[in-house]
Amino acid sequence: MGMNGSLPAGRRAAVVAGLRTPFVKAGTDFKDLSAVDLGALVVNELVARTGIAPKEFDSVVFGQVIPSATVTLVGREMVLRTQLPRNVQAHTVSRACATSIQTTTDAADQIQLGHSDCAISGGAESISDAPIFASRTLAQALVDVSRAKSLPDRVKIFSRLRPKDFAPVPPALKEPTTGLTMGESAEMMAQKNGISRGAQDDFAWKSHARAAAACDAGKFDGEVMHVPVPPRYDKVSAKDNIVRKDTTQDALGQLRPVFDRRYGTITAGNASPLTDGAAALVLMSEEKAKALGITPLGFVKAYAYAALDPRDQLLQGPAYAAPVALDRAGLRLSDMDLVDMHEAFAAQVLSNLKAFSSRAFAEKELGRAEPLGEVDPAKLNVNGGSIALGHPFAATGARMILQTLHELDRRKGQHALLTVCAAGALGAALVLERE
Ligand SMILES: CC(C)(COP(=O)(O)OP(=O)(O)OC[C@H]1O[C@@H](n2cnc3c(N)ncnc32)[C@H](O)[C@@H]1OP(=O)(O)O)[C@@H](O)C(=O)NCCC(=O)NCCS
Repeated sequence: MGMNGSLPAGRRAAVVAGLRTPFVKAGTDFKDLSAVDLGALVVNELVARTGIAPKEFDSVVFGQVIPSATVTLVGREMVLRTQLPRNVQAHTVSRACATSIQTTTDAADQIQLGHSDCAISGGAESISDAPIFASRTLAQALVDVSRAKSLPDRVKIFSRLRPKDFAPVPPALKEPTTGLTMGESAEMMAQKNGISRGAQDDFAWKSHARAAAACDAGKFDGEVMHVPVPPRYDKVSAKDNIVRKDTTQDALGQLRPVFDRRYGTITAGNASPLTDGAAALVLMSEEKAKALGITPLGFVKAYAYAALDPRDQLLQGPAYAAPVALDRAGLRLSDMDLVDMHEAFAAQVLSNLKAFSSRAFAEKELGRAEPLGEVDPAKLNVNGGSIALGHPFAATGARMILQTLHELDRRKGQHALLTVCAAGALGAALVLERE
C-alpha cells in the first residue's frame, strides 16, 4: 500500500465471505473438539457455502494462540483436513488476541502484492483442549529414565521425585515480563485510568443486551454455522452460549472481584470469558471477485500494529495503533460509521476510549497535537463484543471483521474501525471499507 493509501488498480483485497462456529464457554459443547477440529469444520463449511471451486484458493493463513503439542502447523491442517486441494500453501501465525486480524492483513498484503488471488484467513481456539505440561523436574526424570541402562538406575531417578513434581502445569496466561495475568494487568489499568466498577458493569451489561438483541433479530444467522456435538452427535450447537439475555446491572454488581479479591473491580461478568470457537474469512483480489461475479462484503482499507512496554498499560495498544491506521486510510474517527473494539475487559475498553479522547495522551504518548476523538456510543460494538459473545483468542478478529461488515451493509455505512488489544502489550487497528 502506498503511503497515501492508494493501491494499484484491481489489487485491493476484498473480504468476500466469512463464517464462524458458535462461540461457547470452555468445557461445554466443544470440550471434545480441538482447535484444529474447530478450524477444519469452519473452513470446510465456509468453502462449501461460498460455492467457490476449491481449486480457486491459493493460500491459507490461520492461527491458534494456545499451541497444540500434537498439531504444530494449524494453517496447513486447514488444507489437509478440508476439501481444499493439497497444493494450497499455508502458514500459521500468532499475534495473541489479534491473531486473525494478523491472518487477514497477511492475506490482504499477499493479495495486494499480486502473490495471491484467493485466500482463507482465520483462527481457532480450544481452551478446553489446552495442553497440560509436566513439571521440568518430572520431564527431566522421564528423559533420564529413557537413557538409564538398568532397573536400579531407573528406580534411583524416580526416587528423586517429590509429590509436587507430579502436579500438572497449566499453560501460562501470565505476561512473562511482569508475571501478571491479563486480569491483574486490566485491574491496574482500571485504577490508573479511574474506571469504576459501576462503569465496567454498565458496559458489560450493554454488551450482553446488544448481543442478545442481535441474536434475537437473527443478525448472526448467516455468520454462525451449526456444529453437531461429539461424542454422541445427538445435540447441535447452533448459537453462542455465553450471551445472557437476562443479566441485569444488579446481578453484575453482586459478583465478586476475581483478580484482586479485596479491592478489585474485575469480575467474571465484566471480563471476557474463556471460550472455544473458530472463525474464517475468504479474501480475494478485487479483480478475481469481479471475474467470479462475487460482490465483496468490503475491503481492507488500512491497518496498523503498535506496542508499548508491558509494564505500563498492557492492554492500551489500540490507542496507539488506531491513529496510525486512520492516518494510513486518510480518514478520521468521525468518518467511521462503526467502531468495533475487542472487549478483553470492560476496564480495558473504557481505558482505551479515555485515551482516544485525551489531549494529554495524544501529546505525551503519541506526539500529536489533537486527540483522536470521542467514540459515539451509538456506533460502538453495536451487536455486542467479546464480553458477551466470548473470546476464542485466535478467532476473535475474524469474528469482528465479519460481524462489522454485515452491520455496515445493514446500515449502508462505508467505513469501520476495528481494534484489538493483545498480550505483550500489542495493539492492532484495522479500517474496513464497504462500497
Ligand atoms: C474471569 C474468569 C476468571 C471467570 O471465570 P469463571 O469463574 O469460570 O466464570 P464463570 O462463568 O463460572 O462465572 C462465575 C460466576 O459469575 C456468574 N456470572 C458470570 N457472568 C455473569 C453475568 N453477566 N451476569 C450474572 N452472573 C454472571 C456466573 O453465573 C458464575 O456464578 P456461579 O458461581 O453462581 O455459577 C475467566 O473468565 C477469565 O479468566 N477471563 C479472562 C480471560 C482472559 O484473560 N482473557 C484474555 C483477554 S485478551
